[in-house]
Amino acid sequence: MKGRIGKYLCAGAMVLAAAGGCSAAGDAGSDVLAKTPPMGWNSWNKFACNVSESLIRETADAMVSTGMADAGYAYIVVDDCWQVSRGGDGTIVPDPERFPSGMKALADYVHSRGLKFGIYSDAGTKTCQGRPGSKGFEEQDARQYAAWGVDYLKYDWCNTEGMDTREAYATMSRALRDAGRPIVFSICEWGGTRPWEWAPGIGHLWRTTGDIQDCWDCSQPWGGMGLIHILDLQADLYPYAGPGRWNDPDMLEVGNGGMTEAEYRTHFSFWCLLAAPLMAGNDLRAMTPETKAILTNREVIAVDQDPLGVQGRRVSDGGAVEVWMKPLSGAARAVILSNRGSVAAPVTVSWDQIGLAPDVPAKVRNLWTGEEAGMFRGRYTARVAPHDVVMVRIE
Ligand code: GLA
Repeated sequence: MKGRIGKYLCAGAMVLAAAGGCSAAGDAGSDVLAKTPPMGWNSWNKFACNVSESLIRETADAMVSTGMADAGYAYIVVDDCWQVSRGGDGTIVPDPERFPSGMKALADYVHSRGLKFGIYSDAGTKTCQGRPGSKGFEEQDARQYAAWGVDYLKYDWCNTEGMDTREAYATMSRALRDAGRPIVFSICEWGGTRPWEWAPGIGHLWRTTGDIQDCWDCSQPWGGMGLIHILDLQADLYPYAGPGRWNDPDMLEVGNGGMTEAEYRTHFSFWCLLAAPLMAGNDLRAMTPETKAILTNREVIAVDQDPLGVQGRRVSDGGAVEVWMKPLSGAARAVILSNRGSVAAPVTVSWDQIGLAPDVPAKVRNLWTGEEAGMFRGRYTARVAPHDVVMVRIE
């Protein structure tokens, strides 16, 4: 059995396997587990510590009934605060009041809805909310998660004084591999030690910044930041992403109430252009039609999930107006015409900015309206509302 699982885990890394086995869960599972950026839902942005088995079950139900699952969202992840203590033998103990049926039953329920189940821990002694961390218990915790049927682990970086990031994440990566269940490994050290340089092969995705805030451009003294600040920090990271190794600009705030519809459209468009993991962070049980329309736009999601797996980048920065481009399979391009200013403005993408010859006619399709804009030669210009985007596919 163990051999069969090992072979499955290593399926995408035959060279490594031939050279003596996969070195980490990330290496082993990357091709199999996160070929395209993971999509799902996480409890933190909306519910913080207010998590319970009823919330998770209802969210799994809503994921299916709202059409989110059909649109590609698969993982239901319980963030911090599900755990309260360790038993005498070191076993991690879920909060018995909030999760009375236990985590195995909850994972089974999520799986019964055709979804995948994720959980949260921390590399240090305690999580960011002071719950027990995994330091010194990595193998025991990984075995426990595998026994519960966990498919995704988000692993945080609070209370890690004196620890080395790469070593700590590699330890849990190995523990997950040894536990024998394919588990997506989400690294959450906030970008401090440039994880894009060391995390490929250890985890499948890594946070690149401090925590997202549900605002356009606010920032917090402790490192939390609004949409625009996060976006600017992604601009140079495109060379590091690819199938099985994704930069993670943090979870989505779409639908949480702090931004306008245009700002949430900007948020979602950019996350898709960046090939970011798409972890919804709103209450799926009570979505407005506008929120649902943003989160389930198939053509925009297809940009995120494009099999080439190339992260988009900024190709022109004209102050308030910017153009970003993501190469897609089939020689197409996704382009965002963005307006950060406070008045509507024309924004132009010229073919030389996106690697097309100037005299080549190309078809332009608006991904938010679903309309063909037509054939254009040399450039395309659209009027973009303030804090909004026009997102097109050009081929
Ligand atoms: C950190 C992480 C957040 C969230 C909280 C939970 O701040 O970056 O995404 O997991 O911890 O305490």
